[in-house]
Amino acid sequence: MTSEFRPCYAGITEQLDPRLQYNIGMRILLFSGKGGVGKTSLAAATGLKLAQLGYRTLVMSIDPAHSLGDSFDLDTDLFHSQTSDPLSINDGLSILELNIQKEVKRHWQEISSYVTSVLRTTGISDVEAEELAILPGMEELSAMMYINQYRRENRYDVVVLDAAPTAESMRFISMPTTLDWYMKHIFPFQRNLLKAVRPIANRVAPFELPPDSYFGNIRDLFEKLEGVGEIMEDPNTTSVRLITNPEKMVLRETQRAFVYFSLHGLTVDTVIVNRVLPSDVSDRWFSEWHSSQDSIIRELEEYFAPVPVRRVPLFAHEVLGQQRLQDLAKVLYSEAEDPSAVTRTEKPYTFEKRNGAYEVRLLLPFATKSEIGLFKKGDELVVEVGTLRRHIGLPRSMATLVPVRARLESRVLTVELKEAQ
Ligand SMILES: Nc1ncnc2c1ncn2[C@@H]1O[C@H](COP(=O)(O)OP(=O)(O)O)[C@@H](O)[C@H]1O
Ligand SMILES: [Mg+2]
Repeated sequence: MTSEFRPCYAGITEQLDPRLQYNIGMRILLFSGKGGVGKTSLAAATGLKLAQLGYRTLVMSIDPAHSLGDSFDLDTDLFHSQTSDPLSINDGLSILELNIQKEVKRHWQEISSYVTSVLRTTGISDVEAEELAILPGMEELSAMMYINQYRRENRYDVVVLDAAPTAESMRFISMPTTLDWYMKHIFPFQRNLLKAVRPIANRVAPFELPPDSYFGNIRDLFEKLEGVGEIMEDPNTTSVRLITNPEKMVLRETQRAFVYFSLHGLTVDTVIVNRVLPSDVSDRWFSEWHSSQDSIIRELEEYFAPVPVRRVPLFAHEVLGQQRLQDLAKVLYSEAEDPSAVTRTEKPYTFEKRNGAYEVRLLLPFATKSEIGLFKKGDELVVEVGTLRRHIGLPRSMATLVPVRARLESRVLTVELKEAQ
C-alpha cells in the first residue's frame, strides 16, 4: 500500500506516515497451518537457525493451544508462571507465549470491566462474566500490539510467529482491517451518540453506558496498533510460510488458507510439507502411504507454483528439545541459508489504470466464481470469499468509481471500475 491508500482515522489525531517513523526493517515470518502439522516445531527450529546467524530473534506463539514451551522442553509450570515478557533461550533467541489472562489485565482492563459489568446485570455469576469479557480477537490484537511495539523499539531483527490453526490466523490478520473499519465508521458515531443520550439513558437503561474512559482505552489501543496493517501487507517485512502434511484433508485447508492470506494482502513465500515418509522406509505396510504422499506433493507443487514447496521428512521420534530442533533446522535449511531472506514480493493486490478504465487485481488462487462476492461501500471495495470479507480502501482517484465488471482468470480476480453514469 502506498501512503495514498492509507485509511484515515476519523476523529483521531493526525499521525505521521508510520513507515517514516518506524522504517527499521524488522522481519516477520508467520507460520500458519492446521493443528498438529508441525507449526510450532518448524517455527522454533527457524528461530534457532536465525539466532545462530546472529539475528536478534523472537519466536512468539499466538496459538491459544501453546506448545512452544513444550517444544523447547522447558519446565512449563515455571515458564507459565513468568510474566508475559519474552524468555531468553540463548544469546540471540527469546520465546513468548501470549497469555490472555495477563493481557486482559495489562491492556484490556477498561474494556473488559465494562463488558463484565454489563454481563452481571443479566444475572450471570462474576466468574462467568469475567470469562465472557475476554472477547474474541483480544489475543490477536494483543499480539499485534507487541509486534508493533518491538518494531518501534527496534528490539528484534526477526519475529517468528507461531500462529493458531488457520481460522484463528485469519482473524489475526484481518484485525487491522476490522479495526480500521470500526474506528472509521462506528467509533465517532457511537461516541457522539452516547454523549447526547447519556444524561437520559443512564436513568432508564438497564445497565450503565460505557464511561468516556472506555473510549479513551479503545483509542489508546488503536494508537498502539497504528501502522501494523501496513507492516503485515508489506512483503519486505512479512512473509507467510504455510505448513502442511502430505494428506488430502490438510491439502484442501492449505489451499483455502492461501486464498485468505491473499485476500488480506499477505504474501505466502513458501509452502512446507512436513512429515513426509522417508524413501528408505520400505516396509510393504507403507507402500500405499508412499504413493499417496507422492501424488499429493506433486499436486501441491502444481497448485502453488511459483511458490516453492519444501519437504521435511517424518523423523523417527518427536521433535522435542533444542538438539532435535537443531536437527530439524538442518533438514529445513542449507548451511548458509538465511530463513529471513526476502524471496517473494509479488503483491497479492494492485491498483492500475488501463485504457481509461481503472482496475483492481487480486491474487485469489483456488477461489471459485460462485464463492466470490463483490460490492462498493463508500470509498471501499468490499470483496467476499465464502464467509471472509475484506474492505479494500480505494485510492482517492478511484473512490467515486463503481465496479462494472469482474473476471476470475488464471487465479487473478480483476475488477474494472468506471465513473458512475
Ligand atoms: N517432521 C517431524 N517428524 C516427527 N515428529 C514431528 C515432526 N514435526 C513435528 N513433529 C511432532 O508432531 C507433534 C506436533 O507438532 P507441532 O509442531 O506441535 O504442531 P503444531 O504446532 O502445528 O500443532 C509434536 O509432538 C512434534 O514433536
Ligand atoms: Mg503448535
